[in-house]
Amino acid sequence: MEFTGAHILSITQFERADIERIFRVADNMEPYAQRKRVTRVLEGAILGNMFFEPSTRTRVSFGAAFNLLGGEVRETTGFKSSAISKGESLYDTARVLSGYSDVICMRHPEAGSVAEFAAASRVPVINGGDGPNEHPSQALLDLYTIRKELADRGRTVDGLRIAMIGDLKYGRTVHSLCKLLCLFDRVQVTLVAPQELAMPGYVVEQMREAGVEVTISDDLLHGIGHVDIAYSTRIQEERFASKDEANLYRGRFRLNQAIYTQYCEPNTVIMHPLPRDSRADANELDNDLNHNPNLAIFRQADNGVLVRMALFALILDVADQVDAHARDVNWYRGGR
Ligand code: CP
Repeated sequence: MEFTGAHILSITQFERADIERIFRVADNMEPYAQRKRVTRVLEGAILGNMFFEPSTRTRVSFGAAFNLLGGEVRETTGFKSSAISKGESLYDTARVLSGYSDVICMRHPEAGSVAEFAAASRVPVINGGDGPNEHPSQALLDLYTIRKELADRGRTVDGLRIAMIGDLKYGRTVHSLCKLLCLFDRVQVTLVAPQELAMPGYVVEQMREAGVEVTISDDLLHGIGHVDIAYSTRIQEERFASKDEANLYRGRFRLNQAIYTQYCEPNTVIMHPLPRDSRADANELDNDLNHNPNLAIFRQADNGVLVRMALFALILDVADQVDAHARDVNWYRGGR
């Protein structure tokens, strides 16, 4: 694909060569993400970061990624602080904000809303999550993490065995990740969910058409038995009609160290897009896994900065200029 000036709205817009290109650029971002060097390649550029739903990782890591490339960030968070609460349309909001920004990241509770916004925008727009639909940059950082974790074990994404666990109906990260895995060979996906929260049929169909071997289960212990990656997700409470309805499923699939030791193959990597729900009645990934070296959730979150830096560098066409605008840092960097 042509990255320069492109909107990033769905994972389906990428081919395998595009993914490999993003990951090569992301690898090059490591010294900057770790603040060993600084680059000013996007000096003067402005990111409009518009999050109409709560976010910690996506919002802050998109902002950090842009700052690390030398650009500045302007934010709106929530509907209350936006003129959308006064009845302004997405069209008008897009026309206005794209005059103030060089690229925009947006999260919105409605499926398709980011694409609608992008159609009116004068600058590239990145989907930071549109309701239960998609979260493409999360899928990219998830795959980047899978690739790195498997490489440490002498494996590749081709031949991957992964279990996705939890709320697969409303979990946009797993929708995007399943679509992304269609680009790889000999992939086996086990989908572990209550029947009512199963992966949408069209996603399963898309995977099967692409040659992915899909197994559907509601048995956690069986599902995690023979996989390289156990990818847990939160019950997406905010998508349910009521908290009581979400409570029917909360805590149904809990992974803890005892279950991991008894049922998982040694070195099974544990992933989660985060936030994990650590309340006692949910606790889908127990805190007793925190010292398990195969718990990759924080490495996964760190990788978000690399991948998001790569997206900005490619969309704004500076990927080959990053190092030319760089210097070493001279501040104290202890403790990393
Ligand atoms: N993974 C993810 O989207 O996290 P946030 O909701 O904190 O952005």
